[in-house]
Amino acid sequence: MKRCWIWASWRNSGLTDRLTARRLLLATTNQGKAREIKKLLAGLNFKIESLVSYPEFGRFQEKEKTFEENSRGKARFYSRQYGGLVLAEDSGLEVEALDGKPGVFSARFSGRQATDQKNIKKLLKLMRPLSESQRKARFICVASLACRGQILKVYRGQLSGRIIFEPRGQNGFGYDPVFFYAPLQKTLAELTTEEKNKISHRGRALRKVRAYLKKFPEAQ
Ligand code: IMP
Repeated sequence: MKRCWIWASWRNSGLTDRLTARRLLLATTNQGKAREIKKLLAGLNFKIESLVSYPEFGRFQEKEKTFEENSRGKARFYSRQYGGLVLAEDSGLEVEALDGKPGVFSARFSGRQATDQKNIKKLLKLMRPLSESQRKARFICVASLACRGQILKVYRGQLSGRIIFEPRGQNGFGYDPVFFYAPLQKTLAELTTEEKNKISHRGRALRKVRAYLKKFPEAQ
């Protein structure tokens, strides 16, 4: 793996490079995701920023067929423009009885003007005829770290559960109110951010990211 440019320059240079070296850009504008990720990476020696501070970077178009391709593409795209590490994640919901839908289309399942409420409404309508045993689903998260256009690491996490018939709970985002996690007998929207992070697809992937960042740059 190529040594990350910022660390190469950090080794040979002075104060400016050293100050910019430990910057991490979260490649998301989704506030729900950003909130969870910031908690999962809290206490690391990185200045964590999000795309909200960099409107000039433009938007990466997620056109790929898998979470991994989208996650890698997004990380590469933003890391060509940002002088630090970039963490991108692509995530979504796969329903077994719907052949893995909504999958990579989770965010825009109900169309261009999609909202979390409209996506849930569409999902529940499609699943109305399905019995409890046919409602298995899982969340997937693929997190990629990149620097200057190079992928450094890719990590994956998943969470299995089932889709219930009516939304429950006020917390979280996306499909959380209809995703039931049997071991806790709650939907993800009935959990606090801390409780969700302990078990979630994102929590599982991001704990691996955290372990890698703790050792950075030695880990390269
Ligand atoms: P993207 O990764 O920004 O393309 O969007 C992921 C979409 O998947 C979100 O907008 C949600 O609809 C859904 N999603 C991903 N992770 C979660 C989660 O933790 N809870 C609920 N919905 C999620």
